Amino acid sequence: MLTEQDLTILIKQQVGKAAADRIKTGMIVGLGTGSTTAYMIQFLGERLQSGQLRDIKGIPTSFQSTVLAKKYGVPLTTLDEVEQIDIAIDGADEVDPQKNLIKGGGAAHTREKIVDCLAEQFIVVVDSSKLVKKLGSTFLLPIEVIPMAMNPIIRAIEKLGGQPEIRMGIKKAGPVVTDQGNLVIDVKFDSIDNPGELEKTLNNIPGVLENGLFVGVADIILVGEIQNGQPIVKEIS
Ligand code: A5P
Repeated sequence: MLTEQDLTILIKQQVGKAAADRIKTGMIVGLGTGSTTAYMIQFLGERLQSGQLRDIKGIPTSFQSTVLAKKYGVPLTTLDEVEQIDIAIDGADEVDPQKNLIKGGGAAHTREKIVDCLAEQFIVVVDSSKLVKKLGSTFLLPIEVIPMAMNPIIRAIEKLGGQPEIRMGIKKAGPVVTDQGNLVIDVKFDSIDNPGELEKTLNNIPGVLENGLFVGVADIILVGEIQNGQPIVKEIS
């Protein structure tokens, strides 16, 4: 009998594999961050090792995806070396019916936004629990901030009606420090009625590096779920 946790892993593997199968020889690939994308990087590595794919270069979105790419033999490059990204594959914390996203559960949303926005095609890999009617209903909105600006930013967010909390480390005393050496504030908004407007307003606060709203960026959502005891993948495009 499979446990809830086994099923979650099966779904993530299936959706990660479905995304890796869309990569073609010669592509520059944006490598997202998170537990679902980790399977995509693993399957991409397997396709390369088996000779099914050749001449792939990955652009990592975090320290985590760099480490995984090295582990599974995916060659890496940087934005200084390439002119375009063919495909980016990344996870999300929430997806609304317009394919707008909240990202940043792994504190990697700043680099993810750079890479995902540059891609010719951006594919999001999630399980069906991430689909929401309205952004902000299940997940707090992550905002990466420069440490010396923390207090003024908290006050500015409260003025906008948000309830901010500094993200704290797990198995690490003190706050989470991002790959850029900054801090993360997670914000509860009662209702995010206009994600595009809020994305701009937040990024306009001095000291905010980037927030986790990804508006109008995703092209395709691959959604994994269990049907009749089997993991299946649906596409929203
Ligand atoms: C990283 O900062 C996030 O944007 C992740 O992409 C997001 O949290 C999805 O991660 P999971 O696939 O682990 O749910």
